[in-house]
Amino acid sequence: MITTVEAVAQLLVRAERVAVLTGAGVSAESGIPTFRDAMTGMWSRFDPFELASPEGFARQPAMVWNWYAERRASVGKAKPNPGHFALAEIERRVRHFTLITQNVDGLHQEAGSRRVIELHGNIRRVKCSRDGGVKDGWTEDGEVPPRCSECGGYLRPDVVWFGELLPARALQEAGSASLDCDLFFSIGTSNLVEPAASLPWTAHRHGAKVVVVNPTDEGQRRGPGIEYLLGNSGEILAQVVNAAWHKTSEATHS
Ligand code: OAD
Repeated sequence: MITTVEAVAQLLVRAERVAVLTGAGVSAESGIPTFRDAMTGMWSRFDPFELASPEGFARQPAMVWNWYAERRASVGKAKPNPGHFALAEIERRVRHFTLITQNVDGLHQEAGSRRVIELHGNIRRVKCSRDGGVKDGWTEDGEVPPRCSECGGYLRPDVVWFGELLPARALQEAGSASLDCDLFFSIGTSNLVEPAASLPWTAHRHGAKVVVVNPTDEGQRRGPGIEYLLGNSGEILAQVVNAAWHKTSEATHS
């Protein structure tokens, strides 16, 4: 069912436990391309199996490192948009709130979200490709990729690649929050990549209302208890927060 900003705002003010799953669409209005949008999506221009798999990295480590270095630089210049700020405000207003993200750009934290479960890692961090140990940084001594100072293995971005397991603790926390919420938002994600894609339906099976925020409902699951709020998350989440809290307080003061 297609729903409205007002109706979602009402759900939000009444909810006790809210869980949110975000995807690349949340950062689209910050200028970061999504993965699967037909013309602009990253995977329509680049081969994910060359750039986002352990096998691709083993074949062409320098090429993969350089691709992520470029993405890291462009993410470093991007700023959070009103959608990120709205989610940080919702966290401050709702007593039990969990933000789960598939994004690796760190923009939720930059917008002030305090607790962010990162399912796919963070492009701003690196780790050793041999033992997985996360590093504070690396020395640019001309070698690409740079080497781990402890074991000499190549460093790689601390992001989850195709065929790899998600960080166990993040996945476990995301699963419990989804089981345990009464309102679940799925925002800016095509819901195609498992296991994140199952989280909204886990919540739904356990009785939560699911609100999907996306410019399109094409290809997304439909059914009772699943509402679609159609639009760009930056615009529409700011409207939801405004309708949920700011309008109410203005009314009270007048
Ligand atoms: P996708 O590129 O698959 O989907 C992006 C979604 O955002 C689509 O449903 C768009 O319709 C929607 N969208 C576009 N602009 C939007 C806007 N302004 N506001 C709200 N929604 C908008 O990205 P993800 O679902 O995040 O994995 O992709 C999941 C995973 O696949 C990523 O985390 C990445 C990728 O391979 C890893 O890197 C492990």
